[in-house]
Amino acid sequence: MTDAIVTENLRKQFGQFEALKDLNLTIEPGVCVGYLGPNGAGKTTTIKILTSLLRPTGGKAFLNGIDVVRNPKEALASVGAVVETPQLYPQLTPLEILSYFGQLRGLDSDVIRERSVTVLDEVKMSDSAHKRTGEFSTGMKQRVAIAQALLHDPSILIFDEPTIGLDPRGMIEVRELIMQLKERDFTIFMSSHLLNEVQEVCDKVAIVDKGTLLVYDTVANLSSVGEGGVSLTAVEPITSEQCNSVQALPSVRSVKRVATSEILINVEGGLAEQSDLLDEVKRIGIRVAFYRPARSAIEDVYLRLVPEEES
Ligand SMILES: Nc1ncnc2c1ncn2[C@@H]1O[C@H](COP(=O)(O)OP(=O)(O)OP(=O)(O)O)[C@@H](O)[C@H]1O
Ligand SMILES: [Mg+2]
Repeated sequence: MTDAIVTENLRKQFGQFEALKDLNLTIEPGVCVGYLGPNGAGKTTTIKILTSLLRPTGGKAFLNGIDVVRNPKEALASVGAVVETPQLYPQLTPLEILSYFGQLRGLDSDVIRERSVTVLDEVKMSDSAHKRTGEFSTGMKQRVAIAQALLHDPSILIFDEPTIGLDPRGMIEVRELIMQLKERDFTIFMSSHLLNEVQEVCDKVAIVDKGTLLVYDTVANLSSVGEGGVSLTAVEPITSEQCNSVQALPSVRSVKRVATSEILINVEGGLAEQSDLLDEVKRIGIRVAFYRPARSAIEDVYLRLVPEEES
């Protein structure tokens, strides 16, 4: 099967400054990828090249196998994107905005009418289809922007920081929407600064720093126990004897008591070992109330891979 998004030694130079240095990324169809990295890492630059808003200075980018630079129109036919907080015309309604974008994309007016109803329903904006967007909250505007991205029935969705600037409710709504889109066959590529958002929403994570890809892997792989280990809270106080028994388990590196009924376990291995450890701990007689990573695993990976900025 053709990969959905491919970049080959992708480069972008602004004057002497290299924003992207030989970025190689291959995203298979149907996955939802979170694109992480510090400010200035090159996330928006990558996304702008993929959506033909910028020309690369070297390398290649393909969408569903089609070269973005050589055949931008054909490549973008299968892509819906929301890049930067969209400025909607305040006097227009969502239906009018979709009609405008539909015409820009060369869709027939019948198709535009039919698809507009469908996509506004998908983003839960049907009730506001005839209201002026000038009166909308930022979250509602973002959902209209996503409707615009869905209009021409693309297979790839690209979002640059889709929840930026939204209040908590708006963030949750947009996240839920992306998770619903993910359940369908879309390939989703979204940048974000919110590690928990990526962990919650995405299947895979790409981390970029200084224009170079540092890692591309599944959230599950990256979520195997990080340096923080697991935190275990028991129903009753944990005795010293029980602590010693946990310490004696083969996969356990160290045990640290945090509170009378809570210990931090530094465990060797991945998710399977973490799961086995839970069984062992129960066998020791500890009644487990909570069992969770001591630190968000993606936080661990990010802090390990992205060096502190030298100043
Ligand atoms: N048009 C431009 N001219 C000159 N430099 C630019 C231009 N656009 C981006 N850059 C530089 O390229 C680098 C990468 O920028 P980019 O916007 O891709 O980063 P980002 O990962 O999206 O960061 P953020 O998390 O802050 O959005 C930055 O150092 C930025 O200053
Ligand atoms: Mg950016």
